[in-house]
Amino acid sequence: MSDYFRKNIAALAGYVPGEQPRDNKIIKLNTNENPYPPSPQVIAALRKASNRSLRLYPEPLAESLRVVAANVYGVRPENILAGNGSDEILSIIMRSFVGPEDRVAFPVPTYSLYDTLVDIQQGERITVDYPADFAVPETLASQNAALTFLCNPNSPSGTLVSLQDVERLARAVAGILVVDEAYVDFAESEGASTLPLIRHLGNLIVLRTFSKSFSLAGMRIGLAFASEEIISGMMKVKDSYNLNRLSLVAATAALSDMPWMARNIRRIQRSRKVLSAGLRKMGFYVYPSHANFVMARKKEQNLKDVYERLKSKKILVRYFDIPGLQDSLRITVGRPQEVQALLKEMKALGNHPMA
Ligand SMILES: Cc1ncc(COP(=O)(O)O)c(C=O)c1O
Repeated sequence: MSDYFRKNIAALAGYVPGEQPRDNKIIKLNTNENPYPPSPQVIAALRKASNRSLRLYPEPLAESLRVVAANVYGVRPENILAGNGSDEILSIIMRSFVGPEDRVAFPVPTYSLYDTLVDIQQGERITVDYPADFAVPETLASQNAALTFLCNPNSPSGTLVSLQDVERLARAVAGILVVDEAYVDFAESEGASTLPLIRHLGNLIVLRTFSKSFSLAGMRIGLAFASEEIISGMMKVKDSYNLNRLSLVAATAALSDMPWMARNIRRIQRSRKVLSAGLRKMGFYVYPSHANFVMARKKEQNLKDVYERLKSKKILVRYFDIPGLQDSLRITVGRPQEVQALLKEMKALGNHPMA
């Protein structure tokens, strides 16, 4: 494996070389995958579609998927673009709206890919620190940015800002507001999504992924919702066949079995409560999470050792070796038994303080 891969691509994807879950004993709580499998309807549809038709190209504009998604989300197919994961859509957005020196603003800490993509486009990165409670920073709207990103719920904090605050931000920014809702299905209460606002706000793009709530990270499917004008512009930028035939089939089948997804969300929400309570009992500050992960903080204590020691016990969590986050761990909500195993190990570490 090349050094370049190790240092750059692997870090970006949260991939730990040599530590993929080939070994069943690894408890993988570092990249916010769903611990439950996708709907049986998805598996059946994939089996059925794995046939001679794979010699044909997929639908270039994902028309069938967009029709089904439009129905589920109460918009028109013209308001939707399908991408190879929401990461690809983020890249399409960046290529559509940002040229050299264009300003791109986002609050930090947040999803690290925004940073990387601005660099690739040679845009000007404007970061605004989140306040302690992870509310929308007051100065975010006034940055005169071509693009503003808001991850809601945010990663790594798991915190959610209200619909009213997002709407206020969308109305106040100079350019486009992208709301990355990768985790919104896990929000504590329904109605957290900004998606219905695309009808009234011509500068709003809302992103969803099938990687988290639909348990389909391996299939790479994301959706962007926006005005017809924005979507048609982004269509010109995307690759011709950006989603393969099987991903299109999987996404369509997943949308046809919403109760499966809703059931898994309820299970994860229950485990999230157990995980958060267990960590708080150990003296961590745990941010109120609306995602399938929690951020646990021990103010001004570097948690690298905790991360390393968990890793040595085959439990992978996310440690960010960057200033301001070294006292935090981001932990994906796993199955109940995985949550228990993690809590048990962390408790054991607490009883044997680190050198
Ligand atoms: C905030 C956020 N946006 C987007 C993504 C990418 O999702 P996808 O798997 O659809 O590319 C992730 C993945 O972890 C994420 O955390």
